[in-house]
Amino acid sequence: MKKIEAIIRPEKLNAVRVALDQKGFSSMTATEVKGRGRQKGIALQWRAGDYRVEFLPKVKLEIVVDDKDAETVIDAICDTVQTGEVGDGKIFVYPVEDVVRVRTKERGCTAV
Ligand SMILES: Nc1ncnc2c1ncn2[C@@H]1O[C@H](COP(=O)(O)OP(=O)(O)OP(=O)(O)O)[C@@H](O)[C@H]1O
Ligand SMILES: [Mg+2]
Repeated sequence: MKKIEAIIRPEKLNAVRVALDQKGFSSMTATEVKGRGRQKGIALQWRAGDYRVEFLPKVKLEIVVDDKDAETVIDAICDTVQTGEVGDGKIFVYPVEDVVRVRTKERGCTAV
């Protein structure tokens, strides 16, 4: 199994949820986070002068899937959130050792 952790623009969360739902992936965890990438936040101009916002609001989406489904999920996320502008986000992929469905104590892939 793999955990797909996608840092995306908050306004894209609902579209990703719909796209993944349509492909049969309904379970996920979304967390509001603050992040910065290569551009180190964003430079803004205001009447009082220039200033920099060091962290931007992002959403972290975590989805655990069977190995065979990982590429499908990664593709669906990329296709949904990509604008071509800086700050589109990033996806990290981790191996997952085990999963337990607490209600039934099912383990592994059947518990995902
Ligand atoms: N190396 C990293 N480690 C941890 N989090 C990261 C890393 N790179 C990006 N992130 C997270 O992803 C968010 C979006 O990153 P972003 O899309 O700006 O990446 P980037 O590398 O700057 O690419 P781009 O040049 O396209 O903007 C960041 O705000 C941060 O939360
Ligand atoms: Mg960036």
